[in-house]
Amino acid sequence: MSPSPAPSLSHAERFARLTARLADAQSLWRQLPFQHRDSPWGEAWSGLDAALLALSDDEAARLQDAPFTDSPLADWLPVAELEALSALPELAGDGPALPAAWAAHVGGRKWSQIEAFLPRVAVEPGERLVEWCAGKGHLARALSRRDAIEVTALEWQAALCRDGQHLADRQGAAVRMAEQDVLAPEAGRWLSPGTHVAALHACGDLHARLIELAAAKGSAVTLAPCCYQRTAAADYRPLSQQGRERAAALGFTLTREELAMAVQETVTAPRHVRRRREQAGAWRLGFDLLQREVRGVDAYLPVPSLAYGRLPADFAAFCRWAAEQKGLALPAGIDWAAFEAAGARRRAAVVRRELVRHLFRRPLEVWLVLDRALRLEEAGFAVELGTFCPRALTPRNLLLRASRRRRPGSGGGLSPCP
Ligand SMILES: C[S@@+](CC[C@H](N)C(=O)[O-])C[C@H]1O[C@@H](n2cnc3c(N)ncnc32)[C@H](O)[C@@H]1O
Repeated sequence: MSPSPAPSLSHAERFARLTARLADAQSLWRQLPFQHRDSPWGEAWSGLDAALLALSDDEAARLQDAPFTDSPLADWLPVAELEALSALPELAGDGPALPAAWAAHVGGRKWSQIEAFLPRVAVEPGERLVEWCAGKGHLARALSRRDAIEVTALEWQAALCRDGQHLADRQGAAVRMAEQDVLAPEAGRWLSPGTHVAALHACGDLHARLIELAAAKGSAVTLAPCCYQRTAAADYRPLSQQGRERAAALGFTLTREELAMAVQETVTAPRHVRRRREQAGAWRLGFDLLQREVRGVDAYLPVPSLAYGRLPADFAAFCRWAAEQKGLALPAGIDWAAFEAAGARRRAAVVRRELVRHLFRRPLEVWLVLDRALRLEEAGFAVELGTFCPRALTPRNLLLRASRRRRPGSGGGLSPCP
């Protein structure tokens, strides 16, 4: 279903309304249902909880994929408004399809992302191109070959720089891999008013640094941000002045852990991986019930995560492992089957209650990208926001394009709204 029509909104208006909606409902989406034996929201929300628990498995799975579509939460929460506020248009891009040979040595999914990203990097004549946090410079090579220009690719890992330089030289691409920690004080030397910086999936502090440097130097930016929670700071400090003011006025704060909610949607894993994850989730919740009883403390106890493939063979073995991690002595005579079954029932409830967080995930991600857009608008940039590929290719499909030079069709900083 397409989003309800939204009025034409500037980034600032969209941001203001999203801040208010996120702040209004924070007592709901901040709760982590797996930490609670019962409803995390109390009596006031018993109707919402009952509606969630009544969902069939199929309905719950459908809503995980499409949280805004025919949602039973619409009786309690502004589902249509959240959908409209977080719906951004597909950003225009042009240019011919890239030759298949350019995909050599690039993973299939990554290449598809580059194919979608690259036509949206609109390089102005005379601009110098820089790739930010480039890995092996796959994007840089494609950009250099498309525009027949030199691209400087910044990456801090020496081995990736070496491999990337080797690939570029072999393919005759004019790419210079430069070993650079982009958080280091001297990283700004790569940016100037005539620079255009492209960054595909640069994480938290890395893309925040790019935005600060671009704002200071006047460089154009084409950025697909990701992993907002990868920050040195434990608490989020909005990048924009408007963000800081609005958040302070509404008492809206975000911890690093809460930032992770914006990127928790992942591309669907293969069926056997999903099954294993579901089993691990049920076992954790079964162990949680057991530990509450053994300790005589009705409170959640975090248990470390396990690498894929390290899950013990059965529930009892899992509980013994978890108990050992927490220094807990398990008594004899535990009814393993009963705790295992209770864990599975509790997982079904948790999956349904998590649908509240699913509903706010994309709005939070859009809020974070808008904060970045506003930071640049406040620095005098014209900014476009939108998507660069379908979410099936990568859920981190938001793109920010910003330039001090006014782009044709950019609307002087207004977002083209759905
Ligand atoms: C998520 S990857 C993205 C790589 C590439 N842009 C892509 O889309 O495949 C992030 C890259 O940033 C690099 N990186 C991490 N911290 C960095 C830093 N402080 N300075 C420079 N590069 C960094 C990593 O080594 C990695 O290659």
